[in-house]
Amino acid sequence: MTVNNALIRDYIDRQNNELSAFIYDLDYLEQHIRQLQQQLPAQVDCYYAIKANNDAAILQTLLPHVYGFEVASIGEIEKVRAISDSVPVAFGGPGKTLSELRRALELNVTFYHLESALQLDRLNNLAMELGKTVCCLLRVNPHFALPKATLQMAGQATQFGIDEQQLLQLLPRLAEYPALEIVGFHFHCLSNNLDAGTHAGLVRHYLAAASQWASQFSLKLSVVNVGGGIGVAYQAEPQFDFARYCQQLTQLCHEYPQLRIATECGRYITAQCGVYLTEVTDIKCNHGEYFAILRGGNHHFRLPSSWQHNHPFTIFARDSWPHSYPRPEINGKTVTLCGELCTPKDVLAKQVTVSQLRAGDVIVFNKAGAYGWHISHHDFLSHPHPQRMYIKAQQFITTEVSYAA
Ligand SMILES: Cc1ncc(COP(=O)(O)O)c(C=O)c1O
Repeated sequence: MTVNNALIRDYIDRQNNELSAFIYDLDYLEQHIRQLQQQLPAQVDCYYAIKANNDAAILQTLLPHVYGFEVASIGEIEKVRAISDSVPVAFGGPGKTLSELRRALELNVTFYHLESALQLDRLNNLAMELGKTVCCLLRVNPHFALPKATLQMAGQATQFGIDEQQLLQLLPRLAEYPALEIVGFHFHCLSNNLDAGTHAGLVRHYLAAASQWASQFSLKLSVVNVGGGIGVAYQAEPQFDFARYCQQLTQLCHEYPQLRIATECGRYITAQCGVYLTEVTDIKCNHGEYFAILRGGNHHFRLPSSWQHNHPFTIFARDSWPHSYPRPEINGKTVTLCGELCTPKDVLAKQVTVSQLRAGDVIVFNKAGAYGWHISHHDFLSHPHPQRMYIKAQQFITTEVSYAA
C-alpha cells in the first residue's frame, strides 16, 4: 500500500461506526509525480488527464510538476482554470459542440484535439470570427494493429478520432481552415497497458506515421501526443516498467529530435495515491456462499464492477463490538464483498479467501485514486456520500472538496 498506513489506522480508530471514506495521500502523489518526471526525457511534455481524478487538491499538487492538463469538457477546463490561468490545457473528446468550443476559446485552451471534419469546421469558423489562430492536433483512429489492453479506443471501429483513411483525404485540404494551425497528431488508443515494451512500440508507430504524413503533405509537424493508457497492475501481474519505457522513449527522442512528444496519463499518475475504506456492515451465508455487505459500493467506487475485476484490498480489523447481540464472523472462508445497492452487480471482489472477517471490520481497497469516486453514480439509492480526506505533510488537511484557487 502506498497511502500512509498509520494515518489510515488512526482514521479508522477515530470513527465509531458506519465508516466509508476516500483518503488521498498528496505526499505520496507529489513524490510519485516527481519520480516520473525525473525519468522522462526532457523532450517529453507530461500532461495529467484530469478525468481520472479532478479534485482541486489533486490538481494543485500536480500543477508545479506537470507540463499541462488534458481535459474533455468545459467543466474540466474550468476546474483547471480555477487553479491556474496559464497552465497549458489540451482539450480532447469526440463531442465538442459549438457552444463548448466557444467557451473553450474564452478559457484560453492551448491545444485542441480535433476528432472530426465537423469539429475542424466549427472551430475554424469560431476562431475566424474572433480573428484568432488556434493550435490544433488531429486525433487519429489508426488502422495498424494494437496490443491488447483492458479498454481499446482506436485501431478498430469506435467513435474516437478521425479514421486514418479519411485523414488522408483531409490532410491535403488543411488550407481550407486558415484559423487552425495544425501542429501535430494525437493518438490515445488504449487503456491499462501493462507492458512497457509494447507501449514504447506503439509510440514508435505513432511517431513514424505522423512523420510520414507530415512529409507526404508538407505539414509543419511539431508535436505528437501519444495519449495515456499506461496501466496499473490491480492483480498479481508485474507493474508497468516505467524505467524501461523511459529508456525506449529516450531512444525515440534521439531519432526524432525536432519533435515534442506529449503524454497524457491519468490512471498511472493518480491510481496509487488513493484508497477507499468501507466498513463491513453484515456477513451472511446464502445458498452455501458467504457474502459480506459493505457501507458503500458501486455508487462510490464503480471501478471493480465496471472492469469486472476483484479489486485488491487489505482488511483492517476492529476489535471492539459494543453490542449485546452476536457479531457475524467468518474464518478461513471464501467470501464475496458486496456493496449496499439493490443490484447483484454491486460486487467489489468475488469469492476471495480471507483468514478472518467480522462485521465492523474495515476493508481498505487500494489503488482507488483514479477512476474511483469520479466515475461513480453517487446518488443512486440516495445513500450518504463517503467522506473525502486528503493527507498532506503527514496529516489530514481537509474533509471538503473545494475548487477555490
Ligand atoms: C483522450 C484521452 N487521453 C488520456 C486518457 C487517460 O487515460 P489513462 O488514464 O488510461 O492514462 C483518456 C482516458 O480515457 C482519454 O480518453
